[in-house]
Amino acid sequence: MRGLPAHRLTTAHLQAAYPFVSEGGFGGRGAYIGRDLFGGAFTYDAFELYEQGVITSPNMVVAGQLGRGKSALVKSFALRQLTFGRRVVVMDPKGEYGALTGVCGCEPIRLAPGGATKLNPLDRRIAQEEQLRLLQAITSASLDRTLKPQERTALERALDTSVAKAGEATIPLVVENLLNPTGDAASAVSTDRSTLTEWGREGAFELRRLVSGDLRGMFDGETSPTVDLDSPIVVLDLSAVYDSDALGILMTCAAAWLQGLLARDSSRKTIFVVDEAWAILSNLGIAKWLQASFKLSRARGLQNIAVMHRFSDLSATGAQGSQQERVARGLLSDTETKVVYAQPHGEIAATRDLLGLTDTEAALLPQLDRGIALWKVGERSFLVWHRLGSTERALVDTDSRMVRATVA
Ligand SMILES: Nc1ncnc2c1ncn2[C@@H]1O[C@H](COP(=O)(O)OP(=O)(O)OP(=O)(O)O)[C@@H](O)[C@H]1O
Ligand SMILES: [Mg+2]
Repeated sequence: MRGLPAHRLTTAHLQAAYPFVSEGGFGGRGAYIGRDLFGGAFTYDAFELYEQGVITSPNMVVAGQLGRGKSALVKSFALRQLTFGRRVVVMDPKGEYGALTGVCGCEPIRLAPGGATKLNPLDRRIAQEEQLRLLQAITSASLDRTLKPQERTALERALDTSVAKAGEATIPLVVENLLNPTGDAASAVSTDRSTLTEWGREGAFELRRLVSGDLRGMFDGETSPTVDLDSPIVVLDLSAVYDSDALGILMTCAAAWLQGLLARDSSRKTIFVVDEAWAILSNLGIAKWLQASFKLSRARGLQNIAVMHRFSDLSATGAQGSQQERVARGLLSDTETKVVYAQPHGEIAATRDLLGLTDTEAALLPQLDRGIALWKVGERSFLVWHRLGSTERALVDTDSRMVRATVA
């Protein structure tokens, strides 16, 4: 066995300085994560812990500075959980989970403007209230403000008319029905067509970007028949739009489609990873969508895992600051596993506050080396060194990609 990597603080020091920060692990049940620096092996499985009553929500947030090993943890955890028969679904904005699908003999689903694959976030297999929730979230995010009640009503009417007319709604159909509502749609809410058109116009113009703007071709029609959700691991590669200012909206469309379909089959325990979740969390409209999804996870047999850099990603400043703060706190209250890698000094106060860390735990955070994280699971705390197997190392290596990208 290899020794510990070079730490700024050795385990012995940690133990002496912080005798109460951590404790022995959960015993043998669950996937192996690595070494509990205050005990033996550390294993973890949210579904097991949920059944045992250790946690009341399976969701997880993984946070930490660049390159500390967040994605590596998620990748190796996913791989280890596959052997327990769990299904793994990943939103992959940087296109770095392809090697993982290769192990299972499948391919990522690549989404690109004008590409070969379309997903319909208003797919007929998804419950209509979920479709509406998504439409309202992405419209609010695109407008960068909370929707007025009239705007929500216009969206609801347009969705209803689209389903009634075509059997399955699509975003182009919703746009069309927002801009040209039927008399029935208007009278259903005791108004006239021109008023309903007014209510829906601004939202329609924003949604058009997904239909005829620079983002067309991904979410503007029925789902491509080739898309296969049956494999044990499904990766949605969104790297073609990583630089788009609408990345969060696109991720939300894709996540809503996936979660809507997964909700139909909750018999299979599923781990749903949103890497680079800051893209969703930085916008209030879609952050609310994510928070609601976290709430639904128990009923759906889902463990959501959101990966981000810092907890202040969750709490923006400005006019929407207080609402954003509420969303952040709501999201964290539905997240009983928080895995915290190194955080810069400037982030410590916010992290301590949002996670309810002790002073001792907070003081540790700037000192953690790559691969080592503070795990808060329910009421308990652990300091865990994530261990990688030799095969896994190649699957999680993002450093050499960086090197290649720099050389190229
Ligand atoms: N536990 C570990 N042991 C050894 N190497 C590790 C460990 N965790 C991560 N690494 C290595 O560190 C590099 C960066 O890891 P990773 O891509 O997971 O970082 P990240 O926190 O997701 O960064 P970013 O915020 O940029 O996405 C990878 O090349 C990976 O191989
Ligand atoms: Mg990463």
